[in-house]
Amino acid sequence: MTELRDAATADIQYDFDIHDSNAADDLFETYAEMRNRCPVAHTPHYGGHWVATKYDDIHDILRNPTVFSSESVNIPGTIGQDGPMIPIEVDPPDHGIYRKLINPLFSPKRMADLEPQIRALVNELIDQMLESNRVDFVEAFARELPSRVFLALMGWDIADASRFNEWVDLIVLGKPGASEEEATEVRTAAAMEVYAYFAEMIDDRAGSDDAEDITQILINGTFEDRELTQFEVLNILFLFLIGGLHTVQGQLAHTVIFMAENPIVRKQLATDLSLVDSAVEEMLRWESAICPARLVKEDVVLGGVQLRAGDKVLIPFTSANRDEEKFDNADTVDIAREPNPHIAFGAGNHRCVGSHLARLELRIAFEELHRRMPAYRLDPADPPVRHLSQIKGVVKLPLIIGESI
Ligand code: HEM
Repeated sequence: MTELRDAATADIQYDFDIHDSNAADDLFETYAEMRNRCPVAHTPHYGGHWVATKYDDIHDILRNPTVFSSESVNIPGTIGQDGPMIPIEVDPPDHGIYRKLINPLFSPKRMADLEPQIRALVNELIDQMLESNRVDFVEAFARELPSRVFLALMGWDIADASRFNEWVDLIVLGKPGASEEEATEVRTAAAMEVYAYFAEMIDDRAGSDDAEDITQILINGTFEDRELTQFEVLNILFLFLIGGLHTVQGQLAHTVIFMAENPIVRKQLATDLSLVDSAVEEMLRWESAICPARLVKEDVVLGGVQLRAGDKVLIPFTSANRDEEKFDNADTVDIAREPNPHIAFGAGNHRCVGSHLARLELRIAFEELHRRMPAYRLDPADPPVRHLSQIKGVVKLPLIIGESI
């Protein structure tokens, strides 16, 4: 009988720091090594925690919220939020009550109604990019689009997009290179400004009765037979912001890096835009941004390793979606891949509530980008800069428009 390994076992130790952006360029090699050598690994960072890297293990974790709680999905435990982010840090049965209120806000029908507005925003940004042949795609497009769409969805002032971009960067990235304490300080200060903005929007809506307005729907929302508190409304809005901006930004930028470096695939897409839907799914698989954590509620064995109540386990969808045991040619992009059971949006009860919106933004962006600027390439003298964190992304993406490698 093989002996159970635990946090003290030498051969499952792995020096993995999810916030170390110096490791960003080798991330997929690192995850591949972990899947092969220690699929449930233990790292000493942030007080010590587990990292599960195989698709099946992560899938099992997602399906078992009783043992693997979402009470605290961040490592370290806070990104500056005041109380649990709702509903992502709430377990069943309360989680289901919040989802019933939130799901209709992001329904496919409601999102489809946004299509003309999103297409106009996309084209406005492309118009500006086409004024020059060199842009930083992150600044010119990837950061702008999701924040403008979010503000449009909320019916708030689109001119506030740049404030949102700055806040989200600070909250997601903390202070690169600084101590954990300093990073938390920076995140908390930005989060407080976000809460103050939201509180203003809530005050603004007081007394109005627009049945379609999301802020208003939340203000009037109920949890069973009581009204939602302002604290709950703020923490729901905070999650919309964190969930909806940096994720789409990273997905847009990572896809453009791949397409710039792979002109044959880019041309295949540009000449047959009917491939956009499956290309979006494949790029979600290929560069999955999110890496949440779970809090272990009772002693449990995962992949032959003993986890204890109180432990935390990181579940990088980035790794799950490159697992060779689940996907044929996992490290090859096939923009017509079928089936494609990726879990970039998670699985189980916390599956992304904004997935229809994210897909819509990505589809429209890639249709219009490849219709209007089918040729672009990276600048070898100024390569893209990627970052890690629990939402990985791209800080800078210099792009030369109108040329191809
Ligand atoms: C490419 C873009 C996106 C990706 C890859 C993504 C991914 C995810 C993932 C993996 C989860 C589950 C996390 C977990 O299990 O702990 C999640 C949850 C969530 N996402 Fe997204 N997301 C994206 C865009 C959006 C957008 C546009 C919104 C809209 C505001 C959004 C709002 C949310 C919310 C509210 C949750 C919490 C759901 C719950 O706990 O029940 N996401 N997302």
